[in-house]
Amino acid sequence: MPSPKSFSPAGPLRGSIAIPGDKSISHRSLMLSALAIGESVIEGLLEGEDVHATAAALRAMGADIERGDGAVWRVHGVGVGGLLQPLTALEMGNSGTSTRLLMGLVASHAITATFVGDASLSKRPMARVSDPLSLMGASFTGTPGAAGAQCLPMMVRGACPAVPIAYRLPMASAQVKSAILLAGLNTPGITRVIEPVPTRDHSERMLKGFGADIEVDIGSDGIRTISIRGEGDLAPQHIIVPGDPSSAAFPIVAALITPGSEVTVTNVGMNPTRAGLFDILVQMGADLRFGNAREVGGEPVADITARHSAMTGIDVSPHIVPTMIDEFPILFVAAAMAQGITRTSGLDELRVKESDRLALMAKGLSAIGVQVEEQADGLTIHGRSGDPFGSGTAPPLIEAALDHRIAMSFAIAGLNTSGGLTVDDMAPVATSFPGFEAMLKQLGSGQ
Ligand code: S3P
Repeated sequence: MPSPKSFSPAGPLRGSIAIPGDKSISHRSLMLSALAIGESVIEGLLEGEDVHATAAALRAMGADIERGDGAVWRVHGVGVGGLLQPLTALEMGNSGTSTRLLMGLVASHAITATFVGDASLSKRPMARVSDPLSLMGASFTGTPGAAGAQCLPMMVRGACPAVPIAYRLPMASAQVKSAILLAGLNTPGITRVIEPVPTRDHSERMLKGFGADIEVDIGSDGIRTISIRGEGDLAPQHIIVPGDPSSAAFPIVAALITPGSEVTVTNVGMNPTRAGLFDILVQMGADLRFGNAREVGGEPVADITARHSAMTGIDVSPHIVPTMIDEFPILFVAAAMAQGITRTSGLDELRVKESDRLALMAKGLSAIGVQVEEQADGLTIHGRSGDPFGSGTAPPLIEAALDHRIAMSFAIAGLNTSGGLTVDDMAPVATSFPGFEAMLKQLGSGQ
C-alpha cells in the first residue's frame, strides 16, 4: 500500500540522535554468521525490511536466527557448505544487496533457489552477478527485462564443487565483488577478484574477522586483488554494527540546509570506502565536526555535528563516486540549496539502483523549482543560495518509485520549501531507515 506524506517548512532542527545500523554490514554479519559453526551474536543490526529479507532467506536455508532481548541477535550457523535446499522461493523484497550476495552463496552449494522481488528489484540487472558466478559453474534462468537485462524472478542452480575464478570487475560494485567472494568461501582453491576501482570493503574486513583465509594486495597502480581460499571453517563472532553513514547523511544534510539548525549524529560509520559525502560537503563549505573518533567492531566511527551552513557548489570528482554512491540523491538536495553550480559525472550506476536516481532526482528537483540539467552520467544543479524550494504553484507530488533514498531526500527538501511538497510513497523508507519520520519529529521538524 503506498503511503503518501506531505512535508512542509520547518523551524530549526536541533538535538542529538543515533541512527540505525549499517545496512551493508548488517547483511554481511547475518550471512557470515549463518556459515560459521556455533553461535554468533550481533548487536546494532539494522532492523529494516532489506535485512529481514536476508534473515528470512538464511533461515529458509537452515540457519537458526533469533532476535533476543535488547535487540541482540543470535545466529547458529550451518558451517561453510552447509546451506540447505530452500522449500519455497526466496522473497527479496526491495533488496539488491540481499539478492546479489545470496546468489553468491547459493552458487557454490548443491541447491537450487528462486529469487523474487518487488517491482523495483525486478527491473534491476542481475547479469553482473550471474556472469561471474556462471564461470564458477552455477547456472541461472532469469526473466528478460528492458534492454536485454536478466532480471528477477531468477532461478539459481548452484555448483558443488564450484570452480575458482580470477575475475576483473567490469564496474565498481561491492555487491558483485562480495557475491564472488562469498561463492569462493565454499569453492576449492583460490578465488580472486580484481578491483580496478576500490569499493566498500566490509566483506573483506568481516571475512578476515570470521577467520577466512583472505588476502588483499594493492598493486603499485592502485588495483586491488582480493584472494580467498575456500573450504575453510568460519569461527562465530560477536559483532557490533556501527550506524549507517548512508542514513546519517539525511539528518546531516537536513541540518546543513535548514537555518538555525545544529544536529549531532552519534556512532556514524566512517570507513573511508563509505565516507565520501562528508569530504564533499566540507569542500562545499559545510560546518561539520567529527568528534569521539574510535573503532567499533573493526570499523572506524565518529560522532558528527552539523550546523546550518552557507555552502558553495563544486565539481564533484568522478573518482570519489564509489565512496558515496548511495549519497548522491541527498547531495543533490544540498547542492540545490548551495550558491552556484554543482556538476557531477561518472554516475551511470545511479540509473540501475532502486530507481533511475538521476532521472527521478532531476524530475523531482525541477518540480520544486530547481534548475537542473540531466546528462547520461550525472546532473548539473544550479543552487538557489538558500532560497526555499518551491515552484510557485500547488505543492508538487514527488514520485519516489519505490526508492527509499529518493523518498528521504525529498522529505528533507520538503522542510525547506515555501509551500511544502508531498512524497507519493514513504513506505520504502522502512527498507533501510525505520524510524526516519520519528527522527525528524525528535529533531523538532514539526512534521
Ligand atoms: C552495497 C553496495 C552498493 C550500494 C548498495 C549496498 C553493498 O551497490 O549501492 O546500497 O552492501 O555491497 P553496488 O555495489 O552495486 O554499487
